Amino acid sequence: MRRAAVLLLALLLAGLAPLAQAEYGDVVINQRSDAEGVRPVVFPHWFHRIRFRCKVCHQELGFEMRAGANRVRMNDIVDGQFCGACHNNVVAWGPDRCDLCHSGLKGLSSGIQGGAQTSGPGRW
Ligand code: HEC
Ligand code: HEC
Ligand code: HEC
Repeated sequence: MRRAAVLLLALLLAGLAPLAQAEYGDVVINQRSDAEGVRPVVFPHWFHRIRFRCKVCHQELGFEMRAGANRVRMNDIVDGQFCGACHNNVVAWGPDRCDLCHSGLKGLSSGIQGGAQTSGPGRW
């Protein structure tokens, strides 16, 4: 009986996992990229939020908690602000690795891609 229950639970979880996964969208940042001739930025929110506390980015680094709300300039990043607080060749690879951030297809609009949200409020 217990073994059957465990098996059922395992099956349920296996069934649920892909569904949950679909919620974890990336955030495209394309306020200026297209216009300035580089690919839009794809920011994998989930990848970051399992590694850092929300307040690191949303309080200390000043990222507003709304897709498309932030005006990030490349100069700021090179100066160590926003993404550049970590992508500085110390905490993580640096701003010279253009393609790792500017990886979106031309024309993608700013906002959440591939899911309803990026596991924001009510999801973690
Ligand atoms: C750590 C991530 C990251 C890396 C690495 C990176 N960028 Fe950016 N870049 C951004 C973000 C975020 C923006 C803001 C995008 C937007 O709003 O369209 C941006 C914006 C830009 C813009 C738009 C104009 C401006 O001044 O903001 C240009 C041009 C640009 N980057 C060029 C580059 C080049 C060239 C490289 C490599 C030498 C590079 N970027 C590396 C994240 C990055
Ligand atoms: C490494 C930095 C970083 C961390 C850590 C981080 N975020 Fe974000 N978050 C961002 C950026 C960048 C955006 C996109 C902003 C934009 O599009 O202008 C964003 C967007 C969002 C959004 C709007 C998109 C959506 O899914 O609705 C929410 C909500 C959010 N974050 C919540 C959180 C929460 C909650 C945590 C902690 C569990 C967290 N963030 C951790 C950088 C971060
Ligand atoms: C609080 C620190 C922090 C901030 C802020 C941050 N990142 Fe990251 N990011 C990391 C770390 C750490 C890694 C993992 C580096 C590694 O694997 O060597 C990473 C990895 C990445 C990756 C690769 C993900 C993968 O699947 O390997 C991308 C793309 C990226 N960051 C883009 C950005 C962009 C764009 C921003 C700003 C909107 C940003 N990051 C802001 C710490 C940060």
